[in-house]
Amino acid sequence: MRASGKSDRGDLLPLPAGDIHLWFCPHGEAGDPALDATYRALLTPQELQQKDRFHFARDRHRYLLTRVLVRSVLSRYAPLEPKDWRFANGPFGRPRIDGPEIEETRGLDFNLSHTAGLIVLAVARNIELGVDVENTRRSAVLEAVGHYFAPAEALSLGALPAALQPHRFFELWTLKESYIKARGMGLQIPLDSFAFALDAPSDIGFALDDAHDDTAQRWHFRQLQPTPDHMVAVCSSADARIVCRETAPLQWERPLEVRTTRASKIPPLSPIPPS
Ligand SMILES: CC(C)(COP(=O)(O)OP(=O)(O)OC[C@H]1O[C@@H](n2cnc3c(N)ncnc32)[C@H](O)[C@@H]1OP(=O)(O)O)[C@@H](O)C(=O)NCCC(=O)NCCS
Repeated sequence: MRASGKSDRGDLLPLPAGDIHLWFCPHGEAGDPALDATYRALLTPQELQQKDRFHFARDRHRYLLTRVLVRSVLSRYAPLEPKDWRFANGPFGRPRIDGPEIEETRGLDFNLSHTAGLIVLAVARNIELGVDVENTRRSAVLEAVGHYFAPAEALSLGALPAALQPHRFFELWTLKESYIKARGMGLQIPLDSFAFALDAPSDIGFALDDAHDDTAQRWHFRQLQPTPDHMVAVCSSADARIVCRETAPLQWERPLEVRTTRASKIPPLSPIPPS
């Protein structure tokens, strides 16, 4: 990728229908001061204002990095400068591409998630998708399980030995988040109105209660472990192939092998071939 992040047509990454590209952006709490001005120049005045509203420097850095990540990665799929992308939020806050409308941006969609140490960005065409990443070194909020998770999830988690419960908590949490993010509705969807069954190794069972305007069969779930401290869940409306790449925006990018730990149906997982 060139320093400007701009891609000529010839540099564009192919994104076939049926693929989801997952971009992993590891980060610390502070940015590289030499890059700061370049990064800030890509944000809109509103985004810069929003960044400055964060109290802590680490949150301002994460906000800046996330915006630059989205803009620079999207420019790998369409011949647009990172600063040219426009975004709009859906009724429940889900950001979507709002232009420019050109052939390469048609059907292009993304969803992202951030946690301590890692931002994950999912990109696909004509696939509904949601992604969630959690840092599993933080404490599992086991008290929340009885209140917010579906009864079957709480029962199955409670039956596990205490030492295994935090891991199961993060598995359920990331999967639940990935589903509500794919739907774009946030907590409008009650967290106990859909349930994951994880008792079979490597598998992800999924059920929705009748009140949902949705069907469970429509959705495919994947759980990945990009680092020993991070768990990722991806929810998609197609049984897509996932290909992974790691990047520091506007600096470098490379293909990445990431282990799939569970899947609704296990598809091949491979890095994006070098461009
Ligand atoms: C925004 C939400 C979708 C997820 O938030 P989160 O897990 O705290 O944050 P993540 O890092 O995973 O995702 C944040 C990103 O999701 C995107 N997002 C925001 N609203 C969204 C929505 N309605 N749908 C999908 N994605 C959304 C944005 O890109 C956002 O990035 P930003 O914070 O830099 O603007 C929201 O549903 C929420 O706050 N959930 C509550 C968390 C909770 O109680 N979860 C219990 C799970 S068991």
